[in-house]
Amino acid sequence: MRTSSSYDSTLSNLEEKLKSARTSDPRLEADLILSEAVGKTCLEILLDKKQRISSEQSRKINSMLARRLKHEPLQYIFGKAYFRNLILKVGPGVLVPRPETEILVEHALKLAPENSHVLDIATGSGAIAISLAQERPDLMVNASDISRTALGYARRNMKLNKVGKIKFWKADLLKGIRKRKKFSVITANLPYINAKDYAALPREIRKYEPKSALLSGKDGLNLIRKLILTAPENLENGGHLILEISPEQERKIICFFDKSKKFSSIEFKKDLCGKIRFCIIKKKMKHRRPACVLKHRYVTPAKGM
Ligand SMILES: C[S@@+](CC[C@H](N)C(=O)[O-])C[C@H]1O[C@@H](n2cnc3c(N)ncnc32)[C@H](O)[C@@H]1O
Repeated sequence: MRTSSSYDSTLSNLEEKLKSARTSDPRLEADLILSEAVGKTCLEILLDKKQRISSEQSRKINSMLARRLKHEPLQYIFGKAYFRNLILKVGPGVLVPRPETEILVEHALKLAPENSHVLDIATGSGAIAISLAQERPDLMVNASDISRTALGYARRNMKLNKVGKIKFWKADLLKGIRKRKKFSVITANLPYINAKDYAALPREIRKYEPKSALLSGKDGLNLIRKLILTAPENLENGGHLILEISPEQERKIICFFDKSKKFSSIEFKKDLCGKIRFCIIKKKMKHRRPACVLKHRYVTPAKGM
């Protein structure tokens, strides 16, 4: 990129190079790279197209472009991702939070009773846990992950977003959590991709994002299966387990639910593309006598969710 190019010509140049490298959205990516380098919004850039870039800005653009041409995710290049009201630090070793997961937070916000204890398993960058703590300051939020690197990002993100009361710990699912410790809601966006789908993921995901955050055995259900069977120990009676899942996992998840016998209902919810993406499982209320208990309530996805 030549120094003293205008915003306009810089954008065209960036777009052309990104197109030839077949990145996913060259025009948008060009806008975002320039916006990051000059510290202006895309609208400000559009209104000031003839403005010239400085040599320092040109250096930044070249360095970001070189990384993107190797298909590194833009969020790693910028070192940040947006999630609900949060800006989260991300980078190698932690999954970039996805927009669909924002809806999982909506479900948790609705289901968590006031002043209750909630747990986010597989917290990664902390996206779900930090959102819950920020949007519901009454909740006592706990979060865990098996990865030390991910927990490092989550702790930093808690501080960056000035949310000061999340308890983090390193754990393999619920191992190490006392049986007496009960949560009203457990959220988990666990790895749920099967071996075949993982092999077909875009190069930029497979090359840069941690495999351990995405892949979960041949059918993608290794961890979800374990969690459904163990979660009742740490859920309050009537508490909810909220999972992000893959649409084709619905039937198998109903089988795990049936096998457990500790839950009273299972409900599937859709993402913004209209695909089943979330599963909400409710633990039985203990005081109900077996004769009164409905075997289970299988609720079909509500329209529009
Ligand atoms: C799909 S990412 C989700 C990250 C974050 N919750 C989000 O929604 O962006 C899955 C996370 O699960 C963690 N993980 C993988 N195996 C685990 C296990 N056995 N117990 C706990 N966490 C695990 C990974 O380290 C990764 O951070």
